[in-house]
Amino acid sequence: MKRLFVGIPLPTSIRRELARLQDPRWPATRWVREEQFHLTLQFLGPTEPSRIPLLVEALSEITVPSFPLHIAGTGVFPSLQRARVLWAGLHPSTILQELHQAVITHLKPLGYEPEKRPFHPHITLARFKGPAPPELEHFLRTNHDLDLPPFTVDRFHLYESNLHRQGARYKPLHTFPLVTR
Ligand code: 2AM
Repeated sequence: MKRLFVGIPLPTSIRRELARLQDPRWPATRWVREEQFHLTLQFLGPTEPSRIPLLVEALSEITVPSFPLHIAGTGVFPSLQRARVLWAGLHPSTILQELHQAVITHLKPLGYEPEKRPFHPHITLARFKGPAPPELEHFLRTNHDLDLPPFTVDRFHLYESNLHRQGARYKPLHTFPLVTR
């Protein structure tokens, strides 16, 4: 079985900016490596490799045009008191919602049920193993107004996630170009 998800890659310059926010001195914090930053559209979970061509065929039918994406602000899931994930947020984007919906619609007939909770697009920066470190509150205050230059999303990927002791490694298995307007 392969652990799969659908997501959007980020340009090198944006990944570099996000990596500058990270501080390796924080205790019990697993920072996402710079080359691994991405935006998850849908997590598919363990999948038989023989089903991948079906997934690729379904996702190839998506015809959403390329669109700008604008990273802004930071936050935590599920709450500051019980923070498990530290993330960078996004300016609201109707086309991003459309792309998310298109992925769901195209994969549902293959048996992938959409998540019940609402889509909250984000870029995971770090995960906390236990209680969040004391540095977190100051970080959120400082980066409340984070505002990176917009970039163009012109493709998305079907990714494989491999779990390692040092953190997950994400490998694009297939690229789906978006239509250029
Ligand atoms: P994230 O988007 O919050 O970082 C691969 O595991 C990717 O799918 C990660 O980016 C991860 O979280 C996202 N994801 C969403 N739901 C998941 C789940 N139930 N289990 C593991 N990863 C999930």
